Amino acid sequence: MPEKIIIDCDPGQDDAIALLLAMASPEELELLGITAVAGNVPLHLTERNARLMCDLGRRDDIRVYAGCSKPMVRDLVTAENVHGDTGIDGMQVTKPAVPLQSQHAVDFIIETLKKAGEASITLVPTGPLTNIGMAISREPSILRSIKRIVLMGGAMREGGNYSPSAEFNILVDPHAAKVVFACGRPITAMGLDVTHQVIATKDRVARIGALENSAATATAGMLSFFNRHDSAKYGFDGAPLHDPCTVAWLLQPDLFEGKDCNIAIETESPLTIGHTAVDFWGISGREVNATWIHSVDADGFYDLLTERLARYAD
Ligand code: RIB
Ligand code: CA
Repeated sequence: MPEKIIIDCDPGQDDAIALLLAMASPEELELLGITAVAGNVPLHLTERNARLMCDLGRRDDIRVYAGCSKPMVRDLVTAENVHGDTGIDGMQVTKPAVPLQSQHAVDFIIETLKKAGEASITLVPTGPLTNIGMAISREPSILRSIKRIVLMGGAMREGGNYSPSAEFNILVDPHAAKVVFACGRPITAMGLDVTHQVIATKDRVARIGALENSAATATAGMLSFFNRHDSAKYGFDGAPLHDPCTVAWLLQPDLFEGKDCNIAIETESPLTIGHTAVDFWGISGREVNATWIHSVDADGFYDLLTERLARYAD
């Protein structure tokens, strides 16, 4: 039976590629819906970009919902400097054919989980956790239906990417992250420590581009654009492909290694707000609340991504 999932995202080139990876894997993943949140770019663009991915993935059966346009407490911070003004610069941006659902994403998440069976639905957040944090805060009874949360966010050894101490998704909405990490459901957290090991090198991008189908061509184009910022910042031969790590873990968990830890979120300090305090050595005495993923077989990850993108043959 495919795992029932909801992907909550802020496309963003890497979110977009995570969506394509999931949509190419219907045997393993049943995508109940895509919920968009403000993050990399404002909400009206993240929801549009999510719908464009459904067009590209030839999945007009998938429902897309718009969620929160700003974090729970803080003002919205966006990342056009990384993702471009469209959020998915590097591919041709058109008007999506897949419609936007009228229901608010948070209401969709609550309604879907309230009528679901126990521990039956996996949440896959790849942007700021605002929609998920709002849903849990508004309706805690939905927790019983959450099988697990597989999220991209946080940093330990790698340090921050949007402040010296904090990774972007957590920094944008630390209050929502605090709700999620305190929710008591199983969490698999993919932070920069692991995503910085899956670099979209020129060879890997060329291999994807050589597939010569529309989804792969769009992916290669998005990666070529997405690579420029982090290559210059880190000196890598490409950008870390953050968000698809969540979907890849669901498809092939053996590609990854993790450790059960307590992860706490800084929500007060102006200097370190959004910091994920990952208690890797268990010294805080705080209860384990997540599995912190710290290693990945990068070649195996790109083999998987390339094989799934090949399924979009025109
Ligand atoms: O820090 C990386 C994360 O922030 C990714 O999810 C990227 O899409 C941005 O949302
Ligand atoms: Ca994202």
